[in-house]
Amino acid sequence: MAEAVGQIRDEEISEAQIAVHWREEEYYYPSPAFIGQANLTDPDINRRFSIEKFPDCFKEYAELLTWDQYWHTILDTSNAPFWRWFVGGKLNACFNCVDRHLAKYRNKAAFIFVPEPEDEPVVVLTYQELYNRVNEVAAMLRDFAGLKAGDRVTFHLPMTLDLPIMMLACARLGIIHSQVFGGFSGEACGLRIADSGSRVLVTIDGYYRNGRVIDHKVNADIAVQVAEQNGQKVDKVIVCKRHPGRNLSSAPMVKGRDFFFDEIMKEFANRKVDPVSMPSEAPLFLMYTSGTTGKPKGCQHGTGGYLSYVAWTSKYIQDIHPEDVYWCMADIGWITGHSYIVYGPLAVAATSVIYEGVPTYPDAGRPWRIAERLNVNIFHTSPTAIRQLRKSGPNEPQKYNYRFKHMTTVGEPIEPDVWRWYYEVVGKGQAVICDTWWQTENGGFLISTKPALDPMKPGSAGPPLPGIFPVIYDEEGNEVPAGSNRAGNLCIRNPWPGIFQTIWGDPERYVNQYYKRYCRNPNSKDWRDWPYFSGDGAMQAADGYFRILGRVDDVINVAGHRLGTKEIESACLTVEEVAEAAVVPVVDELRGRMPEVYVSLKPGVTPSKAIEEKVVHAIETIIGKIARPKRVWIVPDMPKTRSGKIMRRILAAISNTMEIGDTTTLLNPEVVEQVRQMVQGTGKVEIKAGPEDIRRFGEER
Ligand code: WTA
Repeated sequence: MAEAVGQIRDEEISEAQIAVHWREEEYYYPSPAFIGQANLTDPDINRRFSIEKFPDCFKEYAELLTWDQYWHTILDTSNAPFWRWFVGGKLNACFNCVDRHLAKYRNKAAFIFVPEPEDEPVVVLTYQELYNRVNEVAAMLRDFAGLKAGDRVTFHLPMTLDLPIMMLACARLGIIHSQVFGGFSGEACGLRIADSGSRVLVTIDGYYRNGRVIDHKVNADIAVQVAEQNGQKVDKVIVCKRHPGRNLSSAPMVKGRDFFFDEIMKEFANRKVDPVSMPSEAPLFLMYTSGTTGKPKGCQHGTGGYLSYVAWTSKYIQDIHPEDVYWCMADIGWITGHSYIVYGPLAVAATSVIYEGVPTYPDAGRPWRIAERLNVNIFHTSPTAIRQLRKSGPNEPQKYNYRFKHMTTVGEPIEPDVWRWYYEVVGKGQAVICDTWWQTENGGFLISTKPALDPMKPGSAGPPLPGIFPVIYDEEGNEVPAGSNRAGNLCIRNPWPGIFQTIWGDPERYVNQYYKRYCRNPNSKDWRDWPYFSGDGAMQAADGYFRILGRVDDVINVAGHRLGTKEIESACLTVEEVAEAAVVPVVDELRGRMPEVYVSLKPGVTPSKAIEEKVVHAIETIIGKIARPKRVWIVPDMPKTRSGKIMRRILAAISNTMEIGDTTTLLNPEVVEQVRQMVQGTGKVEIKAGPEDIRRFGEER
């Protein structure tokens, strides 16, 4: 199905249109102490990675890895835009993350697992012990589950050590893993199992979240059923246990299909499995993300290019040294966790902390107690988590004796005010901050300050990474002049090693969605003709720094998690009383953006609280609790164009108390005022933004 990408039609609304325009901020500079120890201090880097040096400059990335067979072609564009990096090379990702560190770091912690219950002791997994476990699990995946290189396996796992061990065991054998975020519903998991063609599912009995035990195995039963309805049989479900020897789930085990992990592993104690040497372009994993249609897309990442990209950026942007204790508080179920909890940090022999629970459990001092106790010195989280921690414990950080040298933020724009709290209070004025912009499709950071080289500017992600050449295009495909502070569609001129390879099973959608928009010549084999369309709006200031405005498509970034409005709308339409549904982004003080739902009911149905609750319930079961809307409004009718299209833009203006604009050309202009009064009340409301804030891209701001 052809998708309209980045074309904001009159009736549509996108995040970028409700973006708030911050004023330019002053620079903050990295401290001499940070610079003195940093991995990247050579200003010559910009020359080494200039566009004339592309793509050969990326040799430096490949050199961070250990290759079984060295590559011969750095970038093959013969099947553009399906890029192939480090062609001819062979390597194993697990070997690069585990085995090769044994000689020097055998007894150093690879992972430190912090359970959510504070009285449960932390678990330290050394590189040696990680090696042992990964080998045993690889043996099980091969000999018990019958998996081999190229097969797909789905994980629906929360934040415990089972997840990275499973991932690395797959990587050892060339099995393609597809981890579905643990907070997604069983149904959402089932659809992803079917799309990826996995016949094995790995899950867990339960886990802790916000002080409660979550029964997770129940989701597996739904997932298997939904997968089957969608044409994919799952013949083995492997159930890990949160506490060895105990079962936290009430769900029955299905005989011949469900197996407890600890029971099947007995047979594999002390087994060793040689890493399988994989071609550089062999797929390493799939990561599903939301797009502009209801169907989630499986972003396929390769081995050599991806691993080199996350290794380089972990070393030089996150400034990870093997001596550091690094904690990324994201979930491994998202790309940030894959790249910057597991693959990147391990490729550079880091000690990586994995925290099971929510940041504010049991109180807002928890992260700082963890940091103090484990001596964490690099911290990585999202603006949503920072806002929450600030709100519930603005003075907590100073009560604890930890010291960060480096802090990362990712996933959403960070307000300058929130940035400053992060800098002054969490970082105690000593840590550098990298505001990193990138996407599931990108593999790793694309825009960020180089921590020892570039000054920081609150509210602005910064300059592009070495070897990344962004460009902003307007709707007509003209380049918005660099440094002009004019908004437009953020694109990247060139491919880079971390870029995803395709959408699993749908190469056409890959081309249409990401490359068609600004392609100069569809027959070209030259990368210069194929700019990558990111789906984000952005503007570039005179100093070259980029400010990200948010999505220009039907995706909403809720608390840093990508959700498709179309997915949420289809969930609403499963409620039998609902006739029509429209989902719009609404600004939220804590979560950045949230979905707000408008529904109209079938003739004869009376609106009720019960229907509202049914809508919320449908969204939570079909997608997951993360998609829970801020409000559900049952409206008498949707504002529509004469051709019958729902004017989501008007609904968003109402939800965000923005100027509504002209409605006289609508089919049913009277509905607008009815809906407005319902949402905003009958009193006078203060308009937060006028039409000047929802200008078209490419116009002067
Ligand atoms: C948004 C997460 C502003 C953006 C790694 C992008 C950001 C989407 C930033 C990708 C940032 C990510 N500032 N916005 N530093 N980083 N985004 O695929 O809209 O889960 O398109 O990848 O998050 O989300 P995804």
